[in-house]
Amino acid sequence: MKDLDSVLGQELDGLKRRGLFRAMKRIDSMQGPTVFIDGKEVILLSSNNYLGLASHPEVIKAQIRAAEEFGAGSCASRLISGNMYLHEKLEEKTAVFKGTESTILFPTGYMANVGTISALVGEGDLVLSDKLNHASIIDGARLSGAVLRTYPHKNLKRLEEILKKAPPYKKRLIITDGIFSMDGDIAPLPELVKLSQRFKAILMLDDAHATGVLGKRGRGTCEHFGIKNGVDIQMGTFSKALGNLGGFVAGSKTLVEYIRNRARSFIYSTSLPPAIIAGCIKAIEIVENDAGLREQLWSNVRRFRKGLADLNFNIMGAETQIIPVCMADASLTMDAARFLLENGIFAPGVRPPTVARNKCRIRTSLMATHTDAHIDRAIDAFRRLRHEGILCNRD
Ligand SMILES: Cc1ncc(COP(=O)(O)O)c(C=O)c1O
Repeated sequence: MKDLDSVLGQELDGLKRRGLFRAMKRIDSMQGPTVFIDGKEVILLSSNNYLGLASHPEVIKAQIRAAEEFGAGSCASRLISGNMYLHEKLEEKTAVFKGTESTILFPTGYMANVGTISALVGEGDLVLSDKLNHASIIDGARLSGAVLRTYPHKNLKRLEEILKKAPPYKKRLIITDGIFSMDGDIAPLPELVKLSQRFKAILMLDDAHATGVLGKRGRGTCEHFGIKNGVDIQMGTFSKALGNLGGFVAGSKTLVEYIRNRARSFIYSTSLPPAIIAGCIKAIEIVENDAGLREQLWSNVRRFRKGLADLNFNIMGAETQIIPVCMADASLTMDAARFLLENGIFAPGVRPPTVARNKCRIRTSLMATHTDAHIDRAIDAFRRLRHEGILCNRD
């Protein structure tokens, strides 16, 4: 199209006017508790590398060794010639870790959700999704052709009403994040299990942010609540606390065989490279054997939350390592992010469409590798932000 750039340019100008234009900051160093941006070392307060495993020497060593032994890439989907020894080993390890019969890997967590949901439900089925679920869940549901109903965030009464009034769909699928990715609160999983059993619905849990973090052994939201049965599908990622890349779905052997045969994002995409897989295997071993990382993360979370509470910031009911700091509107959010970066803290602003217009925020997240000094510097930057007076929250 001849005028494509001018049409797109106008749309981009509109985003800029509304304070919604997105640009990227470039990091020039390893993903550690501090990183280099524009030649300056700053505290990274926005990474999903919650346990610091992206820069763990044992993980890096395992990846180098695997690349030397198994090469750079797998160069085909699992069902053609991309199914290597390491893929099966990681699937076995993940099933044991999650306490399920079986698991299946996907190249990303996004693809795990889109592929699984669109394989499981279709026309004539109903998907019930928490309002704050991740975009990949919404995209999977839309792609499936099923009816998608969102229920207000964690509102079990409303969910029950929808289930009661719903016409007789063939399948009903309830989906929830375990830890909500932008608000940092935890889903009411025991109640969701009860509701799904009462209404004969399938229950799917997206444990992207809870895997490695929640539960005594880091197994996620089910372990946190002591739930052994009742969650039919546990999705997770290797890209957050496990410090790497890739998604998985854990459940029964039949579920996994079904997904292997039906999920298009599994069937039609190249499998993860061996080095990544080896890094994920090592990361699970570390999570299983080193509870100290988790303890340090929670201690850091407590220190930072207290600092923000003392400053009277609105952290929107966050319960975990993800701590949103609510801002008044989109452009003030970006002003706040700029101010923090100038003061040595990298924590970008989050605006619509990722969050609602009245819920713009600085999304902070803690890592086990942050020191007390890092956290105190971050609190100090927020203190100065408060004193600037131009920004801040709706408390
Ligand atoms: C709740 C949730 N689910 C799924 C995903 C997608 O995972 P990945 O980044 O591994 O594709 C994300 C990533 O942001 C997420 O926050």
